[in-house]
Amino acid sequence: MLTSFRSTQMPSTAKSSASAANHLTIPATWYHDAGIYKMECEKLFYSEWLLFCHETLLPSPGHYVAYTVAGRPILVLRGKDGQLKGFHNVCRHRASLVLKEGHGKTEVLRCMYHGWVYDTNGDLCKAPGFGGDEKSLCDRTSLFPVHVKNVDGLVFICMAAKPPSFEKSIGDLPAALKGSGIESFKFFDTAAHPLKCNWKTYIENYMEGYHIPILHPELNRDVDMATYKVVPAERIARHETGLKPGREKEAANTGLWIWLWPNVALNIYKNGMNLEIVNPTGPETTELRYCYMFKDLSKEAEPENRKTIDLSFTVTRQDIDICEIVQKNLHAGVYEAGELSPRHENGVVYFHDLVRAVHAKPA
Ligand code: FES
Ligand SMILES: [Fe+2]
Repeated sequence: MLTSFRSTQMPSTAKSSASAANHLTIPATWYHDAGIYKMECEKLFYSEWLLFCHETLLPSPGHYVAYTVAGRPILVLRGKDGQLKGFHNVCRHRASLVLKEGHGKTEVLRCMYHGWVYDTNGDLCKAPGFGGDEKSLCDRTSLFPVHVKNVDGLVFICMAAKPPSFEKSIGDLPAALKGSGIESFKFFDTAAHPLKCNWKTYIENYMEGYHIPILHPELNRDVDMATYKVVPAERIARHETGLKPGREKEAANTGLWIWLWPNVALNIYKNGMNLEIVNPTGPETTELRYCYMFKDLSKEAEPENRKTIDLSFTVTRQDIDICEIVQKNLHAGVYEAGELSPRHENGVVYFHDLVRAVHAKPA
């Protein structure tokens, strides 16, 4: 694990009880500076393994998922051979999306602009009406490939030409998921929420339960804060908590909550899971992409499944509102950095360690 940065000085503008024992947050400029955002895209989102979607969206040949990842449209599909394949969703003709953003099933990859057709290996096989030597055009034209891996139904992509070690990238995730049964969950629904904040602002909110009693009254009914803790491990952090007495039956959304570096949360409940991808869309904008899966999709299970989603929406709204308030203040030029709680914010400290390591990487 990385060594953490400890505070040596506080912003000079106000009284401070700065202690050398407490960790400081990363600087406020890192949450809004366009150059820093671009650098994080290059060194992190375009270089490392990222969780892209759950395999439940890709059950058989022809199924595809087309999502934009940190500004780059990506396409993952199941080929005729049953294997998952990944491409940049950028037509080699004049740069249109090949397939519209979303998920579904298709026989061929037909570009939405002039109709060029690619096979499921990404090779151009038709350029209708192009004229000239179409065969030779097809022979030399393919979609740009993206690396794909699948672990327990979790589909990862890497845009780098030479990806880093996959095993190192997912760290302790396989151990943390052991026995969770996530590979058996079935697709139920997706949702997307636009956020006016930097991706790190939202991740930090996920990395601590400190705010639960103030911000999430519905969740606070169930969670016993005296036992609440965040346990960082290699590249992940796990939330652990006991429940308030008598709430064991009622608690809809408690279970296993795991964060995976850099931008994913796996919220595993009694009856299913919400895979939450925090997708950066700009220095101060982010998209939350949710995929809900449940064990039981029967009519009888529907009310319980809906209850889980409803509570998740309520909690998400509360988190979005506070993150957007925080983002404005991070950009307002008054706040530079703050001290993190040694009791509650060790997960934030770990996240900041990894962010600092990205910033320190050679270009
Ligand atoms: S941009 Fe794809 S066919 Fe023209
Ligand atoms: Fe929250």
